[in-house]
Amino acid sequence: MYNTVQNSTVKPLTVNDLAAMKQRGEKITCLTAYDASFSALIDKVGVDIMLVGDSLGMVIQGHDTTLPVTIADMVYHARIVSKARRRSFVIADLPFMSYCTPILAAQNAAKLMQLGGVQMVKLEGAHIETVSFLVGQGIPVCGHLGLLPQSINQLGSYKVQGKDPAAAEKIIADAYQLQEAGAELLVLECVPATLAKEISNQLRIPVIGIGAGVDCDGQVLVLYDMLDIGVEKRPRFSKNFMQGSLSIEAAIEAYHQAVKKAQFPSIQHSS
Ligand code: KIV
Repeated sequence: MYNTVQNSTVKPLTVNDLAAMKQRGEKITCLTAYDASFSALIDKVGVDIMLVGDSLGMVIQGHDTTLPVTIADMVYHARIVSKARRRSFVIADLPFMSYCTPILAAQNAAKLMQLGGVQMVKLEGAHIETVSFLVGQGIPVCGHLGLLPQSINQLGSYKVQGKDPAAAEKIIADAYQLQEAGAELLVLECVPATLAKEISNQLRIPVIGIGAGVDCDGQVLVLYDMLDIGVEKRPRFSKNFMQGSLSIEAAIEAYHQAVKKAQFPSIQHSS
């Protein structure tokens, strides 16, 4: 078993620990978390990262998209997740329109860190100037490329990104630019597994995939999708880990082990 948290002397993971995992080829596990109870359970299992995702707009608040989520919502959920964690690294999303200028991004990132207690903020897209500004203020940043749920009204549907050569080249170039701007982690959502493999191999920073194949440095899933809670239609790349598990904790453990052993995602759960 990998990194199962058993006592209270355990130290919180840092961004350096995540970088070291990539260097030694250890897969990084990540799940979304939105409240203290699940935070404590996910942390207890030993999942490396908890993402307070703006997916909470869909799975907690019942909206069709992530767009209605506000920075106040994110701070509330970040605070209750952070309060219960002991070891996991905690990241929170900057929600739609909360980072449209570098100053606004820094003010909202400060709320997530000071009031929400998170270690890093994530923002969607290649906002290089904003990332550089945040990093300059001492704010750790996670980029997010590929399928960008906050752009759903431009995309039209939640479909695989980077399939044609020009789109793939753009994602590769954006990934490099984010790394050079100081991002220390990158989420790649719904891109072909071959593209995600190339980016993961080329970047220094850890790449966390969702619907992006097994060769990323780590994996993330939306907690409610993998626990089969309220799922009307689970994304093709997700998996119901409750199937074959006797408890929620066992399902989270099964996911954690499957990612650590590079058994998830299979081709069936890749783009
Ligand atoms: O909001 C979220 O849950 C996310 C993941 C899908 C990566 O951004």
